[in-house]
Amino acid sequence: MNSINWDTLGFDAYRTRTVIISHFKDGEWSPFEATENFSLTLDPFAQVLHYAISCFEGLKAFRQKDGSIAIFRPDQNAARLKRTADFLGMPCPSQELFLQMCEACIKNNLEFLPPYGHRASLYLRPFLVGVHPQMQLTPYPEAFFVVLCAPVGSYYGQHMKSRAAVIPGNYDRAAPKGSGSYKIGANYAGTFKPYQIAHNQGYAELLYLNSATHQFVDEFGSSNFFGIKGNKYITPLSDSVLPSITNKTLQEVAAEFGMEVEKRPVPVEELAEFDEVGACGTAVVIIPISHIDRKVRLEEAEIAQSYRFCPDGEVGAASMRLYNRITGIQFGEQEDPYGWCYYI
Ligand code: PLP
Ligand code: COI
Repeated sequence: MNSINWDTLGFDAYRTRTVIISHFKDGEWSPFEATENFSLTLDPFAQVLHYAISCFEGLKAFRQKDGSIAIFRPDQNAARLKRTADFLGMPCPSQELFLQMCEACIKNNLEFLPPYGHRASLYLRPFLVGVHPQMQLTPYPEAFFVVLCAPVGSYYGQHMKSRAAVIPGNYDRAAPKGSGSYKIGANYAGTFKPYQIAHNQGYAELLYLNSATHQFVDEFGSSNFFGIKGNKYITPLSDSVLPSITNKTLQEVAAEFGMEVEKRPVPVEELAEFDEVGACGTAVVIIPISHIDRKVRLEEAEIAQSYRFCPDGEVGAASMRLYNRITGIQFGEQEDPYGWCYYI
């Protein structure tokens, strides 16, 4: 082992050594187990296989400049998992168990934690799946909670290089009053095909509009939306977007920089007014967006409208500054006055 090239890591299902598992049954979580067996045994009637009773989280652990190991804002992920599990009618691990299992996952896979200096981290993927065998549509308190991890670098191959996005007019992400603000697996199922089409056309990201009226920006398939207009950091207020921890963090960083933060509905036409646009999330950190094409039908070549922010590959100054601050704190290069780093 350890022929990993830390500088060329992408965002892949890299199999490490150990996964951490607990089973909720008969009203309690079993003591968690660290296992090298990467197979889960499921009853073919298990809820998750038929009715997508599954949700997940994503967070990162960093080897910092002074050698410490920090997880970034794990309390926020634990709280979001609880909110999502409640939505699905699932049992959920306490914050304490969530943190213990994340720590155990890192400690059991230490050789996969990228050393400082490579802009790489250990991505933790906690997930919760309903495993009770049944046919009826009713919650049942039985689940596996699993934490696994993978060493990751840049989501699309190179940090802070701007990329194109497309509004896929004939695909929606989430219904009004539906599941859009929860991190359930089913929200992602409908993005696979449009992502494939978009990638084949040279677009990195899909930008979804609110599905009730298609008049407002919601979020990207993998991440939240922010726009920079003068000294303002603007991000959509919408019931159908995931409450992103990265976005929340960037809003605080923007305020620290003296920027005005606006969280409000963002009309599609306003895209023409932004100086910079970015996609933000744990996995992507920030993907600066060079331009956004709006299509009535994603499959067709015709572009209804195009909004340009910067030449392909280039990055705006505000996005760069936000990126440097958040990653500076994550890698322990800059002070963390907020207490966002959770040290293990
Ligand atoms: N929006 C979607 C659809 C996502 O999948 C993610 C990734 O988790 C985000 C936003 C960003 O959320 P966070 O910053 O908490 O990772
Ligand atoms: C993350 O950013 O942690 C995610 O879960 C994004 C993933 C769905 C691509």
